[in-house]
Amino acid sequence: MGLRQLGGTDGGWLIEPAPLDTTRFGLDVARLTVTRGPADPQSLIEALHQHPSQVLIGRYPAELTWVAAALQASGRDVLPVGGLIYWESPAGAVERVNSGPAGVDVVEAHEAANEPAGSAVAHLVDALVLDTFAGYGTHYRYNPLFDPAAIVAGYAEWARGCLRAPDCGVLVLRVDGEPVGLATLGPDGPDVDILLAGVRPSHQGRGLYASLLLTAREWAAARESQRVVISTQTHNVRVQRAWAREGWRPVDTFETVHLVQPGLLDRTTLTDRTDL
Ligand SMILES: CC(C)(COP(=O)(O)OP(=O)(O)OC[C@H]1O[C@@H](n2cnc3c(N)ncnc32)[C@H](O)[C@@H]1OP(=O)(O)O)[C@@H](O)C(=O)NCCC(=O)NCCS
Repeated sequence: MGLRQLGGTDGGWLIEPAPLDTTRFGLDVARLTVTRGPADPQSLIEALHQHPSQVLIGRYPAELTWVAAALQASGRDVLPVGGLIYWESPAGAVERVNSGPAGVDVVEAHEAANEPAGSAVAHLVDALVLDTFAGYGTHYRYNPLFDPAAIVAGYAEWARGCLRAPDCGVLVLRVDGEPVGLATLGPDGPDVDILLAGVRPSHQGRGLYASLLLTAREWAAARESQRVVISTQTHNVRVQRAWAREGWRPVDTFETVHLVQPGLLDRTTLTDRTDL
């Protein structure tokens, strides 16, 4: 779900099934989105209390002070799994005053609709995502019910799917022709949303990521989008420093919580997973 939906102002809440998560993690998962506007805490509490899903992944604008208490009153275990922050930048062709580090370029990867599954480009995207995001502190990783290997495999599947989707783009960052990073992009109304973006650990800390940001802005401008948005967990200060350096601006914040059926998060599960 992109910023435009999350940042809605109809004052309602919505619970939707999450079939991909349900299959991937072997748990009945649904998603709750609370938007800005007139609040009805009692109806939310009742709906959460009655909902059959084992885990509800909830998102709400961070300034909605009533939501935390309503979630707690639902009788579910409330797991705070990190804030989400969005940053924005205007779409636009960028004058590259400094051409950036030598040998660096960004190319768009495609997979033809008639290509068999498991093409070379799909393998490449897989390898880049698995390497880059293996340790990424996504909200799923805070929940001991979710298998870390399945989380990153899910990101890889998501990025591979983007190769064939007509409204999605996959940018590959290369150094001297060697792929070292990627970004996946998709439209969200007049915005382009950067869905996943990163650089392999072996090539981090060299200022390479900026090339992906610049190319994403050009990609958006070529599709007549007005703005590019990107999000991360608030603890990811490192990537926000890169966004700030490139002139991006923070635009919105949300809380993410996992609302778990009582009894699932027992003491054993928790002590087993202090490595995360
Ligand atoms: C976050 C990430 C994209 C940054 O890419 P990068 O090419 O290493 O970025 P840069 O070299 O431009 O460094 C960005 C900032 O991190 C800092 N940094 C570099 N190495 C660091 C390290 N080991 N630890 C902490 N910060 C570090 C840099 O100093 C820079 O900050 P500054 O501009 O204030 O000096 C990359 O580390 C990554 O892919 N991480 C995993 C996936 C991820 O978090 N993606 C973003 C969320 S979708």
